[in-house]
Amino acid sequence: MRVLVTGAAGFLGSHLCQRLLDEGHHVIGMDNFVTGRAQNMAALFENGGFHFVQHDVTNFVYVDGPLDAVMHFASPASPIDYLELPIQTLKVGSLGTHKTLGLAKAKGARYFLASTSEVYGDPLVNPQPESYWGNVNPVGPRGVYDEAKRFAEAMTMAYHRYHGLDVRIVRIFNTYGPAMRPHDGRVVSNFIRQALSGEPLTVYGDGSQTRSFCYVTDEIEGIYRLLMSDWVGPMNIGNPDEMTVIELAELVLELTESSSPIETRPLPQDDPQVRRPMIDRAKEVLDWTPQVPLRVGLEKTIDYFRQLGDEGRARGRA
Ligand SMILES: NC(=O)c1ccc[n+]([C@@H]2O[C@H](COP(=O)([O-])OP(=O)(O)OC[C@H]3O[C@@H](n4cnc5c(N)ncnc54)[C@H](O)[C@@H]3O)[C@@H](O)[C@H]2O)c1
Repeated sequence: MRVLVTGAAGFLGSHLCQRLLDEGHHVIGMDNFVTGRAQNMAALFENGGFHFVQHDVTNFVYVDGPLDAVMHFASPASPIDYLELPIQTLKVGSLGTHKTLGLAKAKGARYFLASTSEVYGDPLVNPQPESYWGNVNPVGPRGVYDEAKRFAEAMTMAYHRYHGLDVRIVRIFNTYGPAMRPHDGRVVSNFIRQALSGEPLTVYGDGSQTRSFCYVTDEIEGIYRLLMSDWVGPMNIGNPDEMTVIELAELVLELTESSSPIETRPLPQDDPQVRRPMIDRAKEVLDWTPQVPLRVGLEKTIDYFRQLGDEGRARGRA
């Protein structure tokens, strides 16, 4: 297959490109580096099947030659990023989705949208099945991300219903692993960076809010299987093992052998209290379940952060 991946310089986009290349596909990566980094793509260039185009996908997207799939992963994705880039986030979820859908239609390609568990907002149902419509505050600060992705899903389904486009929608739940930015503000990167630097681990609220964390190779496996499946409509891909934020902080301290203290800060507005995917659909349709235990995934991520060194971990500090 010849596949366009937007957001190729990002955390998930770069892992996805690697997986597609490993499967023997040709990949065109596209990114404008608003939150991504060229170094995430260094290994991809070793494969002759990878090409890169620097482009903002909120503008008209042109790609020479045939395409079998368009995978739209471009979007600021961590709360720090989308709160700093609210308009860009809304634009890439709306205009970027529209432009890439148009490209897929013109090429007769399959369209794959990277959506998010944030479409469920601060959920009143736990765990969240795909049939749950969510509880989102459209005018709150997080609405820029949640509503952009909800619009993107609606637009994707409209292209499917009106134009007959072959589409897939993955709702990605918290994913972690190597290639995350130490200062992306996500809880896993924050805790590991702080623990390795001997800084206090910052917990928002009392830390009793729950999250579930999926290791990146598991997430990419689910995404790849969904791409290759014939399932149209949303599919949750995430790890259902739920834990409190405090439990995660304690585990990171244990694995890093750090003596950093834990400090609490006020809870941000609209921070979800619970977050856990129901993955029955992925199990049934894709025969997919997460394989990597949290301890193992965290150890690999800690190794990556250690290799960055003090300087690498400090880079990107606001
Ligand atoms: N990582 C997660 O846990 C998670 C969870 C849910 C959903 N997602 C989704 O997965 C996708 C990738 O997330 P990530 O964690 O890799 O984030 P990331 O910030 O590491 O990667 C996003 C990439 O998109 C690029 N980008 C943003 N706007 C662009 C534009 N207008 N034109 C071209 N490129 C643009 C950025 O430069 C970056 O390289 C996003 O769509 C995100 O919403 C991720």
